[in-house]
Amino acid sequence: MATTVLIGAQWGDEGKGKIIDVLTEGVDWVVRAQGGNNAGHTVEVGEERFVLHLVPSGILHEGKRCVIGNGVVIDPVALVEEIQGIVERGFPVRGRLFISDRAHVVFPYHRMLDAQGEARRAKGEQIGTTQRGIGPTYSDKAARFGLRMADLRDPAFPELLRARVAEKNRVLEAVGAPVVDAEEVLASTKKALETLCPLVCDTIPMLHQALANGESILFEGAQGIMLDIDFGTYPFVTSSNACSGGAATGSGVPPNRMDRVVGVLKAYTTRVGEGPFPTELFDAQGEELRRAGREFGATTGRPRRCGWFDAVVARHAVMTCGVDEWALTKLDVLDGFDTLRLCVAYELDGRRIDYFPANIREVERCVPIYEDWPGWPADSTRGATRFEDLPAAARRYIARIEELTATPVGILSVGPRRSETIFREAAP
Ligand code: GDP
Ligand code: IMO
Ligand code: MG
Repeated sequence: MATTVLIGAQWGDEGKGKIIDVLTEGVDWVVRAQGGNNAGHTVEVGEERFVLHLVPSGILHEGKRCVIGNGVVIDPVALVEEIQGIVERGFPVRGRLFISDRAHVVFPYHRMLDAQGEARRAKGEQIGTTQRGIGPTYSDKAARFGLRMADLRDPAFPELLRARVAEKNRVLEAVGAPVVDAEEVLASTKKALETLCPLVCDTIPMLHQALANGESILFEGAQGIMLDIDFGTYPFVTSSNACSGGAATGSGVPPNRMDRVVGVLKAYTTRVGEGPFPTELFDAQGEELRRAGREFGATTGRPRRCGWFDAVVARHAVMTCGVDEWALTKLDVLDGFDTLRLCVAYELDGRRIDYFPANIREVERCVPIYEDWPGWPADSTRGATRFEDLPAAARRYIARIEELTATPVGILSVGPRRSETIFREAAP
């Protein structure tokens, strides 16, 4: 397949980084197309653990080329830090990492406005953002007040930045927050540009040339469908399109060039930050999922909320993203549970529904309708390298997920390492 779009099919942190890393083996390019350093994608290589925020996870494979596309919002100082860390650990980026000149830039005032916005929201309306300035940067993009990587290289940049800082300082002052020093921002950005400038280019013809050469591209989604600004639990979402469509608008590769969509799905559900989560567990089983799955944020370290698998959410991803196959991750975390619950539909005000409502207050009233399935408490999925090696109860659990979502599981992950992955040759 020339182009594969990989998306998160829940609330993020599904294990996209790991799956991208194993799929990178078979492709030439890995492209990020939305989000920013709110993302935290973990890849384990041997005994080493990497957490990537802006740089595509494909960078850890020698010879593969990576693009940060126009749809991504880039904090230049954070990106330089990340690049330095990667280079220090033995992965060169020169000639392998390219940054779109159309990508919008996150400045310190965006981060401050992010924090201020959260602090000033009424109780119950806080989003629990990563405070990386993502929302305010996308807001500026939509308001046509943003600056892009191309502007940073322009002689007019200092003036463009000063004008924006003056405007943002008026807002910060009005809410009693500390203001930003334009000259300091200018200096730190110029310093970051020493590293970034050689990597900035028009990545659109570059990707089209790659396709014309018969090369293959893997799009690395960030966040997940339930955090998508259109299809997620609005307003408790991020500010970009985490759906498969975001891969096209965020890269300049059009929808009719996308060949396959892989949805990454955790064998249970997690969410970090605020907002409704119908299958959330508040009991010892939720604690057990958090412990066994090491569910703590890769970006902010916050404990992730945990709950049972939700087929309503997975079907929503299939519908909005056109998922061709699942990569089902963290199956090993369910080792040891006596009984597993699968949410098949919701009860809303006494009615059974099988879709995800738009109205957030309705979502809050949704009560999951569960099916109970036997676990495999005496058995383990760890170390399995073939589907047939999995405990029979695990295979039944997977088959039920396939049935409920009408989508096959093509890839299975039973541990964070590359080797702990099962590819199913002939998915049903
Ligand atoms: P992403 O944001 O979707 O890339 O996911 P994160 O990296 O934020 O969180 C996924 C976490 O689960 C990371 O710590 C991974 O190393 C880990 N992980 C990924 N796949 C598996 C798996 O199959 N089993 C286990 N136990 N851990 C996994
Ligand atoms: P990856 O790519 C999980 C959540 C935040 C918050 C909401 C808005 O690692 O799956 P933002 O900072 O984007 O304005 O925060 O979205 N969030 C994520 N949750 N995984 C992520 O990325 C996330 N990126 C943002 O916790 O609830
Ligand atoms: Mg993550």
